[in-house]
Amino acid sequence: MKYWNTLLHGGDYNPGQWLDSPEILEEDLRLMKQAGCNAMTLAIFDWERLEPEEGRYEFDWLETIIENLYRQGISTVLATPSGARPGWMAQKYPEVLRVNPDGRRILFSQRHNHCYTSPVYREKVQAMNRALAQRFGRHPAVILWHLSNEYGGECHCPLCQAAFREWLKKKYGTLEALNHAYWNSFWSHSYSDWEQISSPMEGIGEHSHHTLVLDWKRFVTDQTVDFMRAEAAALRQYSPDVPITTNMMGFYDGLNYGKFRDVCDVISWDNYPHWHNGEEGEAASVAMAHDLMRSLKPDRPFLMMESSPSATNWEPVAKLRRPGMHMLSSLQAVAHGSDSVQYFQWRKCRGGFEKFHGAVVGHDGTGSTRVFRDVQQVGERLGRLSQLCGARFPARAALLCDMENRWILDQIKGLINSQPEKGFLGDLKAMYRPFFRNGVNVDVVDMEADLTPYQLVAAPMLYLLRAGIAGKLRRFVEEGGVLVGTYWSGVADENDLCFLGGAPGQGLDEVFGLRAEEIDALYPQDSNQVQLLPGKGLPGMKESYQARELCELVNLTTAQPLAVYGQDFYQGRPALTVNRFGKGRAYYICSRNSQDFLDDFLGALIRELGLRAIDTELPAQVTVNVRENRETSRPYYFVQNFGGSPAQVKLPQGFADLESGAPCPGVLELEPYSLRILTKAE
Ligand code: GLA
Ligand code: ZN
Repeated sequence: MKYWNTLLHGGDYNPGQWLDSPEILEEDLRLMKQAGCNAMTLAIFDWERLEPEEGRYEFDWLETIIENLYRQGISTVLATPSGARPGWMAQKYPEVLRVNPDGRRILFSQRHNHCYTSPVYREKVQAMNRALAQRFGRHPAVILWHLSNEYGGECHCPLCQAAFREWLKKKYGTLEALNHAYWNSFWSHSYSDWEQISSPMEGIGEHSHHTLVLDWKRFVTDQTVDFMRAEAAALRQYSPDVPITTNMMGFYDGLNYGKFRDVCDVISWDNYPHWHNGEEGEAASVAMAHDLMRSLKPDRPFLMMESSPSATNWEPVAKLRRPGMHMLSSLQAVAHGSDSVQYFQWRKCRGGFEKFHGAVVGHDGTGSTRVFRDVQQVGERLGRLSQLCGARFPARAALLCDMENRWILDQIKGLINSQPEKGFLGDLKAMYRPFFRNGVNVDVVDMEADLTPYQLVAAPMLYLLRAGIAGKLRRFVEEGGVLVGTYWSGVADENDLCFLGGAPGQGLDEVFGLRAEEIDALYPQDSNQVQLLPGKGLPGMKESYQARELCELVNLTTAQPLAVYGQDFYQGRPALTVNRFGKGRAYYICSRNSQDFLDDFLGALIRELGLRAIDTELPAQVTVNVRENRETSRPYYFVQNFGGSPAQVKLPQGFADLESGAPCPGVLELEPYSLRILTKAE
């Protein structure tokens, strides 16, 4: 497989809109050079131009664009057009159109809404991909295949129902096994024929059975991966050396992206932050999304495939980026392991849904706007930083985030999801915050991950246990790791059957040295206290913190209490515990606590284990990540200020500014919304 050797800068280029305006296409080339672009993504939504009539391919126009770009030193990321089908196909083959959960088939409309099972759609997509690969698959300009666009959603058509039943047959073998896993004897819900099973169809069918929903989501993922494999296979035949990606969507929960790791050579994703809306929270959330995406394939850099250089039209508030923010947001991706800064899109549409979406070139058509200059500055800076291409992202801490666990927890309404962002993702973000505040490189991994590179693993609400995760965590602690778990851990197996004999199951009770007995859900206006026992708090912890929403009551076996609840009938019972196990330690946080608890508690562990990228206290809104040159191991420290005011960072000796080469003073001055890249002085 051939990979690029420079940081990529560019974005979605949709010249199909402008084919009747050659002067605009000409000007695009000039402006792309001016903006320091070196990679453009082509043909994402061009099916109607690539195949105007069934079986008649027209690729000459695309070849001209690819060639023109290439002559200017701009490579092509070539998309397959399966994200949006042409009208003739929808009309002639209605089976390609998705059926909604209410059982109704959609009309020709929108995009990203085809049936992933339909043999006709697969056949059309494969024929198109084969033709594209035959024509362009060995072209030196083409550096990457971009499969489809933002795979997602689900289809409930008869073809998908039949495929789902086949999937279930393969998984369970017999109806008895399925009925047992679904605990169907309750409510007289046992299936006596496979035909009785349907997908979770809101309004008309079973849609609140947790295991059915879980299996359906697994099936949708498998079917989408299978569709992507079919797309990839058609390309591979004629284009064996060009790597493959698809653009993912960060925290999107419709698919388990972990299952895509093998079909993608490169991970890429589309990043649309809500900047300037509770700044630090947003910066940390974007940081975590980058980490989640990168961790899908930790051995290779990822690509930020889309971002807006300006406002994003579909957000409720299309805020403009404040000066400095575009550079910071772009380089934040690089700080987290991206080898690219790509935009959606190059030139603003003249009409239609996305005509006001930020683009590099606006309706004025010039290179003299604030947005264009921002983009140009990013292009110039990336151009000087090519040594960063391919650099590693070394992490010694990990957060556990498994989509199957999230799928189940998000269905358990009463206890977990009483308020938005209070479910699994809310807990994960809260746990991530101390790592962000302390400038720690952290991977966000699923249950398939190898945990041996880490010293600290934090696993909020590890409710569902699968893929040998309990054994892996046990070994991790035995061998000296520090594990942080919480309430609602080890409750059920991979079919969501609760462990008999208590939680946490599968031996995690020994690792944590306790058994959970009950969990109390608090009304929003209620709270409890977590009171540290004298001398038991970690360095820097306060005497007391607030507990809200969930308080689990546990019985200790070998664990030691570090804190207890302050009131109610469980006053004095453990609220925070530690258990020495093998050479390591396992902490258990019994209640959902205020952010300052997580900041202080995890902050103490971070300092104790020496996990900070730079050994210093960071001011609010400032964080640090480090990447490492793959060949030379030279470190690159990205010091990022997401605050709207200047910040100072105290630096130990021995740092130099990577870009100027100048040694750093003891205090590094950071402009509002800015980023400096440091290295070790020679
Ligand atoms: C998504 C899509 C793009 C575009 C952008 C707009 O990420 O992939 O085609 O619609 O959103 O933000
Ligand atoms: Zn379907």
